[in-house]
Amino acid sequence: MKICCKAPGKIIWFGEHFVVKGIPAVASSVDLYVRTYVEPCKDGKIRFWSKSLEKGFVYGEKEPDEELLPFKRILDLISERYGSLPNMKITIDSDIPISYGLGSSAASSISFAAAVLKYIGVEPMPELVKELSMEAEKIVHGKPSGIDTAISLHGSFIYYLGPHDIRPLNARWNEEYTLLVIGTGITRSTGLVVKKVLERYERFPNIMNKIYEAASEISATAKTLMINGEWDRVGELMNINHGLLVSIGVAIPETERIIHNSLRLGALGAKISGAGMGGIVIVLLRKKNRDTIINGVASLSNEIIEVKPGIPGLECSVKD
Ligand code: MEV
Repeated sequence: MKICCKAPGKIIWFGEHFVVKGIPAVASSVDLYVRTYVEPCKDGKIRFWSKSLEKGFVYGEKEPDEELLPFKRILDLISERYGSLPNMKITIDSDIPISYGLGSSAASSISFAAAVLKYIGVEPMPELVKELSMEAEKIVHGKPSGIDTAISLHGSFIYYLGPHDIRPLNARWNEEYTLLVIGTGITRSTGLVVKKVLERYERFPNIMNKIYEAASEISATAKTLMINGEWDRVGELMNINHGLLVSIGVAIPETERIIHNSLRLGALGAKISGAGMGGIVIVLLRKKNRDTIINGVASLSNEIIEVKPGIPGLECSVKD
């Protein structure tokens, strides 16, 4: 038997960072995936291998490298709950660049947890997978809001009010538009960036409070515009939201150059998505302007990916 579970990456359209303090956020899945395969292991061990990190470990033997600890944590939790694990070979493969803000760690832990559960005969129900993934996310991010896990699990578009209030958002995506994910080439730890923002909040609570209120209005307005399919206006809101991200301190020259050039060349909206201080910029545009914009920012990024938003979340298949 071979199990394959795939979970998509995500982008945050509105509300990153603000969501950590309970402000609503809007996110969608994108068609980049992490896939975990589980099959019998001939030597009787539990072997894990990450193709993208080119590293692995044998469970129960020596402590894995730090980057692999979230996977070990999930195996520990599953075996605590369901008893000792059978032999298995677990392989994980990802299209999602790591530490960019595309939710690679959440998609990895979701596909990993679901595939291992399915292999041992436990149905990977959303609540259970979410709980395991969140435990793994705490190792990676310290204080995750849970939005990455929620969107990778549920897919589509969501309006996120907290781990226990995730509302599907019936956005009317329009194929006349497209979305670019543009990498800055600079990776950073989400946990550290979140910490810096929270420190600024503590230094200027009255000012930051107003910025957070504005972010809340932006998410609420964006929700309505997306449901109505008003994508030009969504683009304008992305630009306003980016202004707030600049003021909380997560913009860097590399993100700003990409954003200003995209807008100058006709993009409707451009903003940091995810933690910032590097990572990615998302750009909303009409398809007819795609080549102009891609050519115009090509010298600023080695990673320009056109993505489709709103695809399904976690999916598993079994081959006998
Ligand atoms: C990271 O993708 C989004 C942040 O808001 C952190 C979080 O929500 O856990 C920056």
